[in-house]
Amino acid sequence: MNYYFITGASKGIGKALTEALLKNEDNYVFGISRNVTIKHERYHHQHLDLSDITALRNNLHKVFLPLDNPGKIVLVNNAGVLGEIGYIGSQTTDNFEFVFDVNVIGPALLMNTFLSAYLEQTCPKIILNISSGAGQRPIDGWSAYCSSKAALDMLSLTCQKEQELLKTGVKVFSLAPGVVDTTMQKQIREGAASQFSQLEQFVALKENNALQEPEAVGERIAGFIKNASNYPNVLLRIDEV
Ligand SMILES: NC(=O)c1ccc[n+]([C@@H]2O[C@H](COP(=O)([O-])OP(=O)(O)OC[C@H]3O[C@@H](n4cnc5c(N)ncnc54)[C@H](OP(=O)(O)O)[C@@H]3O)[C@@H](O)[C@H]2O)c1
Repeated sequence: MNYYFITGASKGIGKALTEALLKNEDNYVFGISRNVTIKHERYHHQHLDLSDITALRNNLHKVFLPLDNPGKIVLVNNAGVLGEIGYIGSQTTDNFEFVFDVNVIGPALLMNTFLSAYLEQTCPKIILNISSGAGQRPIDGWSAYCSSKAALDMLSLTCQKEQELLKTGVKVFSLAPGVVDTTMQKQIREGAASQFSQLEQFVALKENNALQEPEAVGERIAGFIKNASNYPNVLLRIDEV
């Protein structure tokens, strides 16, 4: 059996990826999020709020359970939040901590525990972090989001370098999924133009049906994971996989 740990499996890209993976009877998914929306004989839900780092820290040992003779083990850090849309100087103080907890600290703790929990497992192991093009270019109003995704990219690059030095064979990726029709895009379209100069462009993406469907993106990511050993680069965009 191949085992997948997927954060944010309750909706959007994470749910679509989970459903795509469950079509293969050799796959078992552990979903991690605050809400449960999937019922399947090969799906197990773990209720965790990644913005509550104390609770996450106390429950990490329950996430990565011993696995019997796995074919492949995969951690997908997909859960992510945009946070408040607003310029630095007009955000609530809590926003930066909230966004970094969910988008960086949570994934880092999960990566750390995943690697130590399955150190002795010799099967292929993959860490896939779902990043964003916003981690590589500034978007006004999204400072916490952009900088958190830049941090996630560097976390992935550093982790891959370490695994290569250790010769573990573990593959680490940071994948930007492109623009996808999920609740995150809805939140983007609800931003105030005074705090987000690209508002009209994002509204137009929806009006012109230019957003990808989550199901198509989920299938594509599932296909990528299957062939992940063929990809030498850590930082990838959806159109490259
Ligand atoms: N949609 C896009 O256009 C786009 C573009 C670039 C990158 N991305 C990235 O793609 C990933 C998925 O985004 P999406 O568009 O699918 O978003 P979404 O539809 O808003 O779904 C977000 C998922 O993350 C989970 N989540 C949010 N806060 C959480 C928390 N505190 N603890 C645990 N889980 C939490 C949610 O589950 P619960 O609410 O049940 O906890 C949900 O399953 C994110 O990392 C995002 O940054 C998306």
